[in-house]
Amino acid sequence: MSQLSQTPQQTLSSLQGTTTVVIGGTSGIGLSAAVQAKAAGSRVIVVGSNADRARQAAATHGLDGWRAADVTKPAELYSALEDIPQVDHLVLLAGTFVAGKTLEADLGYLARAFDERIWASIHALRALGNRLSSTGSVTFISGSLADRPNAYGTAVLAAASAAMEALARGLALELAPVRVNTLSPGPIDTPILAKALGDAKDGFVASVEASLPLHRLGTAEQAGAAVVFLMSNGFMNGATLNVDGGARLV
Ligand SMILES: NC(=O)c1ccc[n+]([C@@H]2O[C@H](COP(=O)([O-])OP(=O)(O)OC[C@H]3O[C@@H](n4cnc5c(N)ncnc54)[C@H](OP(=O)(O)O)[C@@H]3O)[C@@H](O)[C@H]2O)c1
Repeated sequence: MSQLSQTPQQTLSSLQGTTTVVIGGTSGIGLSAAVQAKAAGSRVIVVGSNADRARQAAATHGLDGWRAADVTKPAELYSALEDIPQVDHLVLLAGTFVAGKTLEADLGYLARAFDERIWASIHALRALGNRLSSTGSVTFISGSLADRPNAYGTAVLAAASAAMEALARGLALELAPVRVNTLSPGPIDTPILAKALGDAKDGFVASVEASLPLHRLGTAEQAGAAVVFLMSNGFMNGATLNVDGGARLV
């Protein structure tokens, strides 16, 4: 008898025939995760705040549906999810780069870091209720700031990111047997960089590349593949998966 007790199919549960909802799936890491989940056989619906971008992302990549909802507005989120009969894999990546010094920035703006992540995730889970399959998974997003904060106005975003990891660990117990994990990316080359930094993007990228052990940013595809791994590996639960090229180490 083979020493291997499981076939590859048993090790990674198939996404074939499942339904995946990717909130924040219309761009960057979420869009790449959506495309890869679709290629693995899942029926994929993406959600973003902008209807045109969501429609275009779904059409361009042959996805199975799209919704527009601002995750900081619970009523929009509930309405966007209400007609989906069952969800096997829920991925929550929606967010912006909320940056501002704690003693100076507008409090309403800083609160977005938590609204887009913690409260959006709680509302999405409550909106789905028992339509989230017990054999499925939930994947949250944090970021390497959670482990390696800096002095440039990211303390609140770092706190919101770390809180996502803690929320995932708690929900892995509370929602069991649904698996709940967090992806923690390091610097990934996605549209968020230009949205946040504008013309300063190139200088930022050059300085980050110089400091990273690999001297390059990650790609949306690499981070998206890690999301699909968390969805499909049936023994990943309550975990934070760092995909950061070693950014936490330097
Ligand atoms: N890229 C990185 O280096 C990095 C590192 C660490 C963590 N992260 C986190 O990873 C997540 C994805 O980032 P990304 O780099 O893939 O960024 P991205 O390309 O800008 O994608 C962000 C996605 O979130 C959606 N979104 C943003 N605000 C939303 C809102 N209020 N309501 C609904 N949807 C919203 C966007 O849709 P719309 O455009 O329609 O709003 C888009 O689909 C973010 O939470 C980010 O903080 C990224």
